[in-house]
Amino acid sequence: MTFPIHRMRRLRSTQTIRNLFQETCPQVSDFILPLFVSETLKAPEAIESMPGVYRHSFSSLIQEAEKAHSIGIQAILLFGLPQSKDSQATQAYRKEGVVQRATRLLKKNIPSLVVITDVCACEYTSHGHCGIIQGQDVTNDTTLKLLQKIAVSHAESGSDMMAPSDMMDGRIGAIRGALDRKGFINKPILSYAAKFSSVYYGPFRDAADSTPAFGDRKTYQMSAANSREALREIEMDIEEGADAVMVKPALTALDIIARAKERFLPPLWAYHVSGEYSMIKAAEKMKWLQPDVAMAESLLAIKRAGADRIVTYWAKEAAKFFK
Ligand code: PBG
Ligand code: ZN
Repeated sequence: MTFPIHRMRRLRSTQTIRNLFQETCPQVSDFILPLFVSETLKAPEAIESMPGVYRHSFSSLIQEAEKAHSIGIQAILLFGLPQSKDSQATQAYRKEGVVQRATRLLKKNIPSLVVITDVCACEYTSHGHCGIIQGQDVTNDTTLKLLQKIAVSHAESGSDMMAPSDMMDGRIGAIRGALDRKGFINKPILSYAAKFSSVYYGPFRDAADSTPAFGDRKTYQMSAANSREALREIEMDIEEGADAVMVKPALTALDIIARAKERFLPPLWAYHVSGEYSMIKAAEKMKWLQPDVAMAESLLAIKRAGADRIVTYWAKEAAKFFK
């Protein structure tokens, strides 16, 4: 017998052969685009730490969402930047709040685009934390009431899916109950189920002006050191009624994505977060990395690990890249 018998290179010999045996095949509908909308801006404003990403005015938001939808993006994840903030996040659940107005506009102008709204307080609190502060820390159970109000106001504005990103205990059950009592029995909840405390959210916090004024988010977001805890978080959110669960960040949690995919059946999404996006953009700018390919490779790895869908600031480019 001659060696080697198995020649792995046989299936790598041409591009078409490689296509034929490609295991992970991302497509446009895999990508969800996060968008920021401001209550005060009249024109889009570049976010310095996120090249290519903007804070939108109401009208540029619609244009950007239309553009994304026209190339096949099915859903956006909406974040609001309010005119004013206070300790109780009252702007987060106003009928005329920024996300509520933007959602109504989006649904009116682009009815088939799925609008997912981020349910959290940190963009609306003067202290930048994801809930109501008592002493130096966020109180869990009063924050649940706030989250219920926010989620219900989003649903009333026509949001198609609510995505709580706060990491309070019991929030999925609390929000599910509040939505059901208001008759929104068919509005799904996408839970940020395993959300790690991460420095990679830095550029997002620049964009949303939501850096905590004191302390950090470590009493509610998870430690990067823990994996079984992440699986428990996911398990509990599913038990409380989450329709889909998300892991965040993505590249630093590929192990969690892979294990969650084997263990749980509900749809599993991953969030390729701001810092993951921006560090590649920065390296591209320095000409240390070839444009686009590093981003594509990252998204491939996230999908390969088991994510069914990926929230990414690079969604439009990814849609073109993987076509
Ligand atoms: C709000 C929220 C954050 C992100 C999504 N929702 C920021 C945070 O928790 O500090 C981060 C997204 C990103 O970095 O792209 N809780
Ligand atoms: Zn938050």
